[in-house]
Amino acid sequence: MEERKGFGSNFGFLMASVGSAVGLGNIWGFPNKMGASGGFTFLVVYLVLAVLCGFIVMVGELALGRKTGKGVVSAYHVLSKRFKWLGWLGILSPFFILFFYCALGGYCIKYVVVNVGDLFGASFGSAAFAEVAAANGTSLGAEVFNAFMGNPTEAIIYGLIFVALTMLIVMGGVSGGIEKVCSVGMPALFVMLLICIIRACTLPGAVNGLKYMFVPGWAVANGIIEEAPNFLTVLSTAGGQMFFSLSLGMGAMITYGSYLGKKENIQKNGLLIVIMDSIVAFMAALCVLPGRFALDPNGDLGGPGLLFVTMQNVFSRMGGMGPLFGILFYLLVVFAAISSSISLLEVIVAHFVDKARDAGKGDKRKVYTLIAAAAVSLGCILVCADALGNSSFSPADLLGIAEPKAWAADWLDFWDAVSEGVMMPLGALLMTFMVAYEIGTDVVKDEIEQCGNKFTAFKFYNVCVRYVAPLGLLLVLYGQIKQFFF
Ligand code: TRP
Repeated sequence: MEERKGFGSNFGFLMASVGSAVGLGNIWGFPNKMGASGGFTFLVVYLVLAVLCGFIVMVGELALGRKTGKGVVSAYHVLSKRFKWLGWLGILSPFFILFFYCALGGYCIKYVVVNVGDLFGASFGSAAFAEVAAANGTSLGAEVFNAFMGNPTEAIIYGLIFVALTMLIVMGGVSGGIEKVCSVGMPALFVMLLICIIRACTLPGAVNGLKYMFVPGWAVANGIIEEAPNFLTVLSTAGGQMFFSLSLGMGAMITYGSYLGKKENIQKNGLLIVIMDSIVAFMAALCVLPGRFALDPNGDLGGPGLLFVTMQNVFSRMGGMGPLFGILFYLLVVFAAISSSISLLEVIVAHFVDKARDAGKGDKRKVYTLIAAAAVSLGCILVCADALGNSSFSPADLLGIAEPKAWAADWLDFWDAVSEGVMMPLGALLMTFMVAYEIGTDVVKDEIEQCGNKFTAFKFYNVCVRYVAPLGLLLVLYGQIKQFFF
């Protein structure tokens, strides 16, 4: 029978896992959530949750994946009687996430192109919108984005380019594609981010961004948000952000764990992934927020407006070097997005490839990656054509809802609500139930202690997985449902 090939080295595994974790969530979600939810307080809550819930679920997923050596559907099938079906949740959520993730990845590629245009004074740069912006009294960034949203065909083309790139890497296999790309891409991303931070923090006025981030109450005192969220809201916002950012609750880490060698240390790797992901989220905030407060003090702080209007304004107003920093920044966002989208696609592909191999059909990776990517393309086209709800066929339009909540406002939010809002917290919650109350925590311990490794945090793990993590996840579920549906 064909051999199931895994990661070539522990470093490769680590970079791939960090790549999966570091994504749009870090660069886009974290900075704003931190500022709007109490600055430093949010950071502390986030880190505590990352250790008490994130790390716990992370080592659990990695261990279950490696123990079974299978994709997420088969892994649950082997492990559990009651939760056999849970693996399907773990495959469907990445599928739905890919719909909007690829659309947004495409937007980021478009913005690399825009800034290349500015570098050479070409007609596809943002500078071409100077007259329109002046006439309308808007900003360059706003005009660029409006024009882009008014042209769904262009958005679809960029989205499909992003799907194609993701597909090509996954076709290359785990060690030949994913590991290779992430081993180079992640260190490069880190360096690029450092350069962007130095530039952003040395802009005049950048200090307000740091105050918004760190000083509790500053955002309210300066009228940036109306009132401070209560502690429960901060907890659930931080929890939801943390889970999405660590790629948990969707079979991604189970799948990557299944490719990890038996002698590698899961506890150490899990901790490193959590630490590195948090560091990059924090670093992204140090780049995005000071930039915004220095050069576009009235710009959007969240949502698509932050990444595609405010940040573009920042680069357009930076002077001669602006386009260069724009290219660097959007390229690093593309890197972050691709290293995540390949993990999402791999969850789906791994399952079908394993099944075919077990049935003696040989290595079907290329064919199945192509089929999965084609299916993802359809969802991506829908999200791009919808142009953030500007179309006449958003969920609210189709259902005749006059004042839609977030889930119905546009197709991007719809898929986000289904996956990140419901399926992810539910999947993670049921997984902790399964480990704690059905199969037992010794299963995880035995797997982690393979080849002489020690699970020194086992006692901590035991308490957290029984009581703390389920409670935290219930809270996240509540917060997500409130955010998307009420
Ligand atoms: N972690 C990624 C981000 O922060 C998103 C992501 C990638 C993800 N793979 C995942 C989320 C698997 C959940 C499950 O943007």
